[in-house]
Amino acid sequence: MIRGEQLSKYFGDVAALNATDIHIRSGKITAIMGGSGSGKTTLLRLLAGLEQPTGGHVWYGDEDLCAMSVRRLYELRESMGMLFQYSALLNSMNVYDNVAFPLHEHTQLDESVIRTMVAMKLEQVGLRGFEHLMPSELSGGMAKRVAFARAMAMDPRIVFFDEPTSGLDPISAGVIATLIQDTSRKNRMTSIVVTHDVHAGLAIADHVILLWQGDIIAEGPPDAIRQSDDARVQQFLHGRPDGPIPFSRSTTSYIDDLTHKPGTIRLQS
Ligand SMILES: Nc1ncnc2c1ncn2[C@@H]1O[C@H](COP(=O)(O)OP(=O)(O)OP(=O)(O)O)[C@@H](O)[C@H]1O
Ligand SMILES: [Mg+2]
Repeated sequence: MIRGEQLSKYFGDVAALNATDIHIRSGKITAIMGGSGSGKTTLLRLLAGLEQPTGGHVWYGDEDLCAMSVRRLYELRESMGMLFQYSALLNSMNVYDNVAFPLHEHTQLDESVIRTMVAMKLEQVGLRGFEHLMPSELSGGMAKRVAFARAMAMDPRIVFFDEPTSGLDPISAGVIATLIQDTSRKNRMTSIVVTHDVHAGLAIADHVILLWQGDIIAEGPPDAIRQSDDARVQQFLHGRPDGPIPFSRSTTSYIDDLTHKPGTIRLQS
């Protein structure tokens, strides 16, 4: 249903994503995994239409997302849910209004119906009774769970999750991972989950895509990924510090930097 064709995204000289072909399976959970800076959020934002690609296309069926009218895009958005990497709650609104926000924006439902729907979504994430709290009064994990409830408010057909379990304690992370899995299966929802969490990603996904420096280096069902003999895949899965994936991304010599040789980055004095 959703397809990226030769998708690329450049930020200045930085290639966040190189001409990538990607196929998101309808009604399934796709996990996009990879190290920090590998292009996961960029790919998610392109697929969700939040960012314009530098090259290539995003297809929803036979419609090109980049060529869609504003009205059609708005219609499509009504069937989408999003959980952003840093929760992105609206700071001036309490928990209730944050979760109710998509319902107020997109529906004409009576407030009493909205209240029931918000209570159901908050119950799912264990936060019913916290409606009156402001985002600044929430822990990082609570904010993430509110963001999850908001993403699910409209019972979307397609949901984009950017790091839904990061910053959560293991029990809350397990609850959210199970919720994604159960809701996706029950509602035949298409879920695209960006995650560092190898355990959760492999446990819940039907299909895994592994990115490295803007390229897909492996793709397939979780078992095929686990058994991959690609050294980069195994390094990522086992969190090994040594291997083909370097920890440092610096392109200048460390010694040159420390001795302020020309061509290196200088700190402002
Ligand atoms: N708005 C932006 N402006 C400039 N560069 C950007 C921007 N967004 C992303 N990048 C760059 O694109 C590359 C990929 O970033 P991206 O956020 O997609 O990585 P990621 O895989 O989501 O990382 P993380 O796991 O740390 O969230 C990085 O080199 C990043 O610096
Ligand atoms: Mg990211």
